[in-house]
Amino acid sequence: MDKIIITGGRQLNGDVKVSGSKNAVLPLMASALLTDKCLTLRNIPRLSDLTRMSELLICLGAQISENFDEKTIRICASHIKSPTAPYDIVNKMRASIVVLGPLLARCGVAKVSLPGGCAIGARPVNIHIDGLRLLGADVFIDGGYINARAPKNGLIGTTITLPIVTVTGTENILMASVLAKGRTILQNAAKEPEVCDLVRCLVAMGARIEGIGTDTLIIDGVDEISGTEHTVIPDRIEAATYAIASAITHGDVLLKNVIYDDLLSFWDHLERTGASITRCNAGVRVKMVNDIKGVDVMTEPYPGYPTDLQAQFMALMTLCSGASMITETIFENRFMHVAELCRMSANITMHKTSVLVRGVKKLIGAPVMATDLRASVACVLAGLAATGETTVQRVYHLDRGYEQLEHKLSNCGAIIARV
Ligand code: EPZ
Repeated sequence: MDKIIITGGRQLNGDVKVSGSKNAVLPLMASALLTDKCLTLRNIPRLSDLTRMSELLICLGAQISENFDEKTIRICASHIKSPTAPYDIVNKMRASIVVLGPLLARCGVAKVSLPGGCAIGARPVNIHIDGLRLLGADVFIDGGYINARAPKNGLIGTTITLPIVTVTGTENILMASVLAKGRTILQNAAKEPEVCDLVRCLVAMGARIEGIGTDTLIIDGVDEISGTEHTVIPDRIEAATYAIASAITHGDVLLKNVIYDDLLSFWDHLERTGASITRCNAGVRVKMVNDIKGVDVMTEPYPGYPTDLQAQFMALMTLCSGASMITETIFENRFMHVAELCRMSANITMHKTSVLVRGVKKLIGAPVMATDLRASVACVLAGLAATGETTVQRVYHLDRGYEQLEHKLSNCGAIIARV
């Protein structure tokens, strides 16, 4: 079991090249199931979640060729040998659920293992299932599997209003509606940049979708779509994570290949902590020369402050000159990093969906245990600024969402190693 050891106290200085987005590439890969032609994706990140999605698509019958040097993957689902996504793959990566909609639309039937919960919450998929039922599918749960069957003439477009903004729920129902008969109006749809990237790719494949970037998507079903070549957007969560790495170490880091406009709420919060954020041709430069100021944050669906950046911001606030109230509104248990940060001498008190962070003068390095992807990276960020040595266990969480994390950080002067 690998672990990461960090000796803190070094200011980060240098460039970080942001990789392709994990949360964009996973649904994009699943969209290949909608056509018998080949889909080529460029700027893909080298992450374990992507490997798992490839395994799943191969298990369903797709042919996949990856070229990581060129950061491309080519997926040809010309023939689907089995519309069943097995438990042993789905339970390792809950994002596998996004094959449900495309499988059902393409094959008329789909059997996908119910993804379990995870550290940050129960993560139900009831809205996914309700949406597919509204498109005419018969869906029942049996033996831990979602069994879905479309009407014999295919899914039927309708108006669907999502009760909660759900990212993969939007993506599943959107992909199912692409091949449905007639018009689907999807209201209260998620507007995350990763959803917009999927819409752009589907349109390039021949889907008819209006309303990109809004909370109402209008899809006119088509009989079939074809392949395309699509470049995956940069990972805004990775980019912002390194922005906080710069701020927490009072460094000066240039983020390359980041889309500034995908992170407006984040830049606003980071600027109020005292960081200077400069857009330039090469990317976005983040410097922190002053004391870190305490800033409150509340997570919300896009374009609000992203829940995937809550743990990272908390790490920064542990060293602020005042205090910060952090409220998590998306997931019911996304404070697993609090206990770990407190082991490093942070001063944090929890009150149900909010925590109050009182800044301390310094963090002390310690062995810490990661529990999910973003909690893990919050421990790494705290370790970069702490006095002494921090050991982060269970780094497989990090490998799911951060490509070459220790290389990118050590290239900016961090003392960090994987053992
Ligand atoms: C996506 O998860 C992301 N994952 C998550 O990133 C991200 O945190 C989340 O969106 C919110 O932005 C991928 O895109 C692969 P949701 P998703 O459905 O779609 C409730 C990371 O760290 N809900 O938008 O699973 C749900 O419980 C990961 O990269 C239902 O109640 O999240 C939650 O409270 C973590 N019923 C809220 O909606 C449903 O059927 C938002 O969840 C679906 C969701």
